[in-house]
Amino acid sequence: MDTATDRDRMQSNQQGWNRRALAHIDSSYYDLDTFRAGKSSLRSLELEALGDVSGKDFLHLQCHIGLNAISWARRGANVTAVDFADQALEIGRDLAKGLNVDNINFVHSNIYDLPEVLKSSFDIVYTDYGVLNLLPDLSGWAKIIAHFLKPGGVFHIVEIHPILGAFAEVDGELRLRSELFKSGVREYEVSLTYGDAYEEAREIDPYQQYAWPWTLSTVFTALIQAGLQIETFTEVPVDCRQRLASMVRDEEEGFWRLPGDPIPLTWTLSARKPE
Ligand SMILES: C[S@@+](CC[C@H](N)C(=O)[O-])C[C@H]1O[C@@H](n2cnc3c(N)ncnc32)[C@H](O)[C@@H]1O
Repeated sequence: MDTATDRDRMQSNQQGWNRRALAHIDSSYYDLDTFRAGKSSLRSLELEALGDVSGKDFLHLQCHIGLNAISWARRGANVTAVDFADQALEIGRDLAKGLNVDNINFVHSNIYDLPEVLKSSFDIVYTDYGVLNLLPDLSGWAKIIAHFLKPGGVFHIVEIHPILGAFAEVDGELRLRSELFKSGVREYEVSLTYGDAYEEAREIDPYQQYAWPWTLSTVFTALIQAGLQIETFTEVPVDCRQRLASMVRDEEEGFWRLPGDPIPLTWTLSARKPE
């Protein structure tokens, strides 16, 4: 479980993600006008992985301002959406109310405290895009997923590939900048939050962000040791937003890619809790 110091670090992250949430209300990445008009925020990667979710009890961890969670609810799932950024959840609640989506419940909690806050179990536990490097303890995270799954239930994740963190772009070329396998907490100031394209990033009041760069093997080991059986794993050369200047938009679905697809940019995994 996380230490007291990690609690302080997560608190700094929580303040920062509240600031980011407010900046995301009119963000090009979230495009709330189009979402309100009925467009789903879900992409083919997660739709193909999960299939039909109607009638399923669905736990969405680290839901941020809730677009994807509401999209799963619009597809018929009974969604519980969790985040520790209260202002992000307020945006999600307002959105769901305005859209008359009532099969969703937003729960304010740190993931590590969730077993004390929530007493249900779920057919599906889900999380996506930009979540794991904000968590100090993956073994504890995996145990929480196993705790909330019903026997036979499935965990799905769609996540930014960690290999991207090993590269910087210099004069349009990818260069190795750090060791992928260097573990431990990293601390840096954040004063911009993401848009869809690189130049659409928005300024926010700076905060200290703490991040833990996990390797895929650490993720796999944590899930296996929590008793889950990994069923599928994929790596794809597409990214949900522009993270390097040389990435170009694939107009078909709005994904971003590096010319020539040299490295994977996103991974997906499904794991089942045995009956
Ligand atoms: C990058 S955002 C997720 C974005 C989301 N995938 C989307 O597409 O909108 C990460 C979220 O994780 C939340 N978060 C970070 N650490 C958390 C923790 N320990 N417990 C609960 N939520 C946490 C942040 O508040 C933030 O909303």
